Amino acid sequence: MVDIHCHVLPGIDDGSPDLETSIGMCQSAVADGVTHVVGTPHCDDNYEFSWDVNTAKRDELQKAVGPKPQLLLGCDFHLNDINLELLQVNADPFLIAQQNHLLVENSNYSLPPAMEQMFFNLRCRGIIPVLTHPERNPLWQRKPDLLKKLAQQDCVVQITAGSITGRMGKGPQKYAMEWLKQGIVHVVASDAHNTSSRPLKLKEAFDVVAEAIDADTADLLFTHNPKAIIEGGATFQPRPPKKRLWGFLGF
Ligand SMILES: [Fe+2]
Repeated sequence: MVDIHCHVLPGIDDGSPDLETSIGMCQSAVADGVTHVVGTPHCDDNYEFSWDVNTAKRDELQKAVGPKPQLLLGCDFHLNDINLELLQVNADPFLIAQQNHLLVENSNYSLPPAMEQMFFNLRCRGIIPVLTHPERNPLWQRKPDLLKKLAQQDCVVQITAGSITGRMGKGPQKYAMEWLKQGIVHVVASDAHNTSSRPLKLKEAFDVVAEAIDADTADLLFTHNPKAIIEGGATFQPRPPKKRLWGFLGF
């Protein structure tokens, strides 16, 4: 599995507080079968984003944990005007593994009225937006039709593993499972911040998806699509879930 959204870098923003915690997060990832982890510090009104600092922290952590998991860099990019200007100057530091996908987070209080146009503008520049955890955002919970429309052509949809397992609460779990079953989710990521309340674990959520939908979809969402993203490739929309034959026959 590949984790494209994780606050694993030590001592950056509200993620891992220190090197010891970051090492523990990496060990947890390896134990869960995660081969690549993208460190994605916030870039918003509260946290300054520095490519040089992030690179140094990544290198320090990679040295401490050895070759596994492989650590890459990206950004938990808040969608606002200042950040979009920074993106114009140099997009690479913000892109996942410096390829062609960008994590995009909305405020919980307002969605930009020109969201589709913003996503269109990004795509014209060769940048594919990855909308992060809409199942945890009350505004997206009330706009499932718009989410479905965007997921079909404008962006990749990423939900949080903890929403699937119920760790993020009943509301996010309900929307996560609903949208998974409708086939509008492309990727699952940990959005881990530490080793306790927000751990770097994906396997439990993988098993839930394999059971609730099917193993092929779980592979697509936890391995194929996130791997394609770190390699600059294309993601695939999940197929609608198969109808169970015995259900059709009335068993
Ligand atoms: Fe995050």
